[in-house]
Amino acid sequence: MRQHSLLLQNHTHRGAMAAALVLLLPFFLPTLFTPLGHAMPSVFSEWNAPKPRHSRLLKSALQRETSDAEVTELWKPLADQQWKRCDLSDQKSAALPKKSQGYIQVFLDGGLNQQRMGICDAVAVAKILNATLVIPYLEINPVWQDSSTFMDIFNVDRFIDALKDDISIVKELPAEYYWSTREYYATAIRANRVKTAPVHASANWYIENVLPVIQSYGIAAIAPFSHRLAFENMPEDIQRLRCKVNFQALVFVPHIRALGEALVGRLRSSTSTNEGERNNYIRQFNGAKDKRGIGKFVVLHLRFDKDMAAHSACDFGGGKAEKLALAKYRQVIWQGRVLNSQFTDEELRSQGRCPLTPEEIGLLLAALGFDNSTRLYLASHKVYGGEARISTLRSLFPLMEDKKSLASSEERDQIKGKASLLAAVDYYVSMHSDIFISASPGNMHNAVVGHRTYENKKTIRPNMALLGQLFLNKSLTWPEFQAAVIKGHKNRQGQLRIRKSTQSIYTYPAPDCMCNA
Ligand SMILES: *[C@@H]1O[C@H](CO)[C@@H](O)[C@H](O)[C@H]1NC(C)=O
Ligand SMILES: *[C@@H]1O[C@H](CO)[C@@H](O)[C@H](O)[C@H]1NC(C)=O
Ligand SMILES: *[C@@H]1O[C@H](CO)[C@@H](O)[C@H](O)[C@H]1NC(C)=O
Repeated sequence: MRQHSLLLQNHTHRGAMAAALVLLLPFFLPTLFTPLGHAMPSVFSEWNAPKPRHSRLLKSALQRETSDAEVTELWKPLADQQWKRCDLSDQKSAALPKKSQGYIQVFLDGGLNQQRMGICDAVAVAKILNATLVIPYLEINPVWQDSSTFMDIFNVDRFIDALKDDISIVKELPAEYYWSTREYYATAIRANRVKTAPVHASANWYIENVLPVIQSYGIAAIAPFSHRLAFENMPEDIQRLRCKVNFQALVFVPHIRALGEALVGRLRSSTSTNEGERNNYIRQFNGAKDKRGIGKFVVLHLRFDKDMAAHSACDFGGGKAEKLALAKYRQVIWQGRVLNSQFTDEELRSQGRCPLTPEEIGLLLAALGFDNSTRLYLASHKVYGGEARISTLRSLFPLMEDKKSLASSEERDQIKGKASLLAAVDYYVSMHSDIFISASPGNMHNAVVGHRTYENKKTIRPNMALLGQLFLNKSLTWPEFQAAVIKGHKNRQGQLRIRKSTQSIYTYPAPDCMCNA
């Protein structure tokens, strides 16, 4: 077993794990098991270029025309809603305890956005226990392989300062606790390591089970910690504190913000630093673009990787080779035990259980009225099928950009190969876009949707079930498709939804994080 996954192995507490999987299915499960996939020999050639699956709709979409009125409506910011962001900086939780109970250390799995939630929960747990928090340790994710630390990603001084009236935080443990390292917990069973925290544990669970550990050893190390603090029955001040961490205390380091800002600026001014064909495209379009949606852009978050494609068990139009490759992948990674594979592609689609392909998300955007002068920023890691799969989307939106096309090679060098920093830049650009749309639910989707709700920014939530059914109907004409799409997305543009008791405060920030206007 490679060094980096030792702690991850130790984490496998069966009960909690099983519960976590139930909660997180299907979007977490795929990445959890990917590392094995890297060793898998590629027996089948998967790169038969995937063909458009909806060529009839596509043909009409390519010739679409939208009126100025429609375009104006589309880009209009969200109207004020009943709930507004509160000034959380004024909201202090209970006073700092005179004396800290001891230290809390957490080790966080997952990608950037899952870790972000873990950080917020860690602050809340430290508050519940009157303990001092050590800056959370970010595990190296076996899929993303990024060793960036908290301080490499987030502005740590700002984090500590923003929360100074709420909890005490230290960057490092004092010398007497230097022994408390990741290696220490990875190599043996340790009495001060808490590994049985149930998924969505209550505040009392921490008081009953973790406080005694702190009192005995001076420090409690909690791992695993992802999704280990409940959303229901939590004191109001603890909820407010979680909001304050997520929406105010967590700010990316200056160079990530600067790069994000530069990309946003280029998207708004329609110049690219990259030379060549793309620039010519942009110049050609400038004339047409200036009239409508000028200086505005959409961020499309596209998570369409092999894990997700395989795990969904849907057919994505890559033909027999792709089908075999995905079935083989399911066999190797999950021994074929993938719930979705008991259903036909048609059944899965009509239930909205298939991630939208780049082609489908393109048709959705076109039907909603985005024309071919729309600035589209692709926030995406890797698309299964590569450019062949993206080309249909690009034909609908020739002004499509991403980190690679917009940033200079010097700029890219700062974040190259660092999945968390790349994700941070995408998060920043997503937060600053006029419109955000995500092709698949998951941690990034939830985090950005929640944060944009908090700032009352427009976010389109695809109606997966409706789209699944529409794409199945091969006799649907473009006007019928368009009318159904528009009708089905009227109330999915960022209208605020109130959190239900067990839902995440980070995805549904109202009412807990927001104030009644
Ligand atoms: C953009 O759409 C217009 C209107 O349908 C069309 O005339 C034009 O050729 C399109 N441009 C490209 C590059 O597809
Ligand atoms: C934490 O401190 C507050 C205020 O000082 C106190 O009311 C509360 O009981 C303490 N909680 C624990 C778990 O020590
Ligand atoms: C497909 O769409 C057409 C036109 O709206 C409709 O008449 C037909 O009932 C639909 N077919 C199915 C199977 O839903």
